[in-house]
Amino acid sequence: MKEVIKYAKGNKKRYLEELYEYLRIPSVSALSKHKKDMEKCSKFVAAKMKDAGMKNIKIISTEGHPLVYSEWLEAKNKPTVLIYGHYDVQPVDPIELWNNDPFDPVIKRGKLYARGADDDKGQNFIHIKSVEAYLNTIGELPVNVKFIFEGEEEIGSENIQKFIKKNKKLLKCDAVLISDTSMYAPGIPTINYGLRGLAYMEIEVTGPNRDLHSGSFGGGIANPINELAKIISKLHDKKGRVAIPGFYDDVKPLTKKERENYKKLNFSDSALMKEYGVKELYGEAGYSTLERFSGRPTLDCNGIIGGFTGEGAKTVLPSKATAKISMRLVPNQDPRKIAKLFTDYVKSITPKSVKIKVKNMHGGFPVVMPLDDKAIVAASKAVSKAFGKETVFTREGGSIPIVVDFAKQLKTPVVLMGFGLETDNIHSPNEHFPIKNFELGILSSIYFLDEFSKLF
Ligand code: BES
Ligand code: MN
Ligand code: MN
Repeated sequence: MKEVIKYAKGNKKRYLEELYEYLRIPSVSALSKHKKDMEKCSKFVAAKMKDAGMKNIKIISTEGHPLVYSEWLEAKNKPTVLIYGHYDVQPVDPIELWNNDPFDPVIKRGKLYARGADDDKGQNFIHIKSVEAYLNTIGELPVNVKFIFEGEEEIGSENIQKFIKKNKKLLKCDAVLISDTSMYAPGIPTINYGLRGLAYMEIEVTGPNRDLHSGSFGGGIANPINELAKIISKLHDKKGRVAIPGFYDDVKPLTKKERENYKKLNFSDSALMKEYGVKELYGEAGYSTLERFSGRPTLDCNGIIGGFTGEGAKTVLPSKATAKISMRLVPNQDPRKIAKLFTDYVKSITPKSVKIKVKNMHGGFPVVMPLDDKAIVAASKAVSKAFGKETVFTREGGSIPIVVDFAKQLKTPVVLMGFGLETDNIHSPNEHFPIKNFELGILSSIYFLDEFSKLF
């Protein structure tokens, strides 16, 4: 074990340089112009797994972007951990707000800036490097390890979902390990035990059959942007609750114990307001900020398109307006049911003066994991050892839809051992990842494999 740690520490610099290489591949899953880069990135991941000493490496093509699988199964009578990561990243726009090229990583004040630095390349690379440290020193792992990396997490994980269903034997394991979430605060080792689900919708409102002069026609023909705005304004009530009838029907209320756990984290609203430059917080009445962020369901407009948005002024009554709206879900909400409730409600409040189309883009189920699970205990010990502090347990407001598929299909616990920070700007300009977290993440992963082997 000592040699393994020593190797990881001694190879820090090279590990980072290899991570730069990974980050230089613009693997944006959402944009078809990056299809070749997705292939290139899958090959890069496979090569790094091979270098680390993994066996039976496979690049599996799908209807979308390739999956990468590998294994090392020589730990007799020891448990198996399946490590998941996603090598795809979010688009970079608005590009003009980046201080550097998002695909040319730079280090500033101990942080590595690049698209994917935190979400999720920086985090998943941790595990490849931890395995390398074992196999290049003592020549074996304390447990059996399987890797499955996908390139479609940011666009809904459709193909890995099908793959898991068809390959339960190949992926059979005692626990799934994922580093794709964030820590409670800098330096505080964190295990996430819950994720919200998601229902992502698009609504398109159409008014007249072409754009019109707003002087000649305004006031007499409904403006789809105005009507869309009215619809959006009816999605919440005055208490910050989602106004869709039935939306809360299946919501499992937070228990007293859960609410106490949230309280114990001593979250600071004022520090939050300062960090993000807001003068007042917002949300569902009767719940704390942390509860609103992860324990309660929400609805947010992610984008709105319509009319004239170029330079200067153009008077127009546009023909169409579109909004992209997502709802974050908690146990026991079902994304399909929520999508239906949304669709019915939105249609019911749309006036006859415009037409509406509602599209269900993608969804995912929420999860909450039991805290006393063996693998979760092993992970909490591992991060605590690496960071030298007591581990805290949090629920995450974001979603990783495939987690539920792992849990249900493989009937295993899923450990969310995240090393990102909430301030890392994931999905946003100037995404970054603290180098310290990358390094301590590798130590955590090394300790996890060891702790996990002691459990069986
Ligand atoms: N790594 C994130 C999940 C996450 C979000 C972790 C926030 C920690 C904090 C993941 O890559 C992600 O972005 N998930 C999407 C869902 C997907 C279906 C687009 C999300 O939560 O929006
Ligand atoms: Mn991610
Ligand atoms: Mn993401």
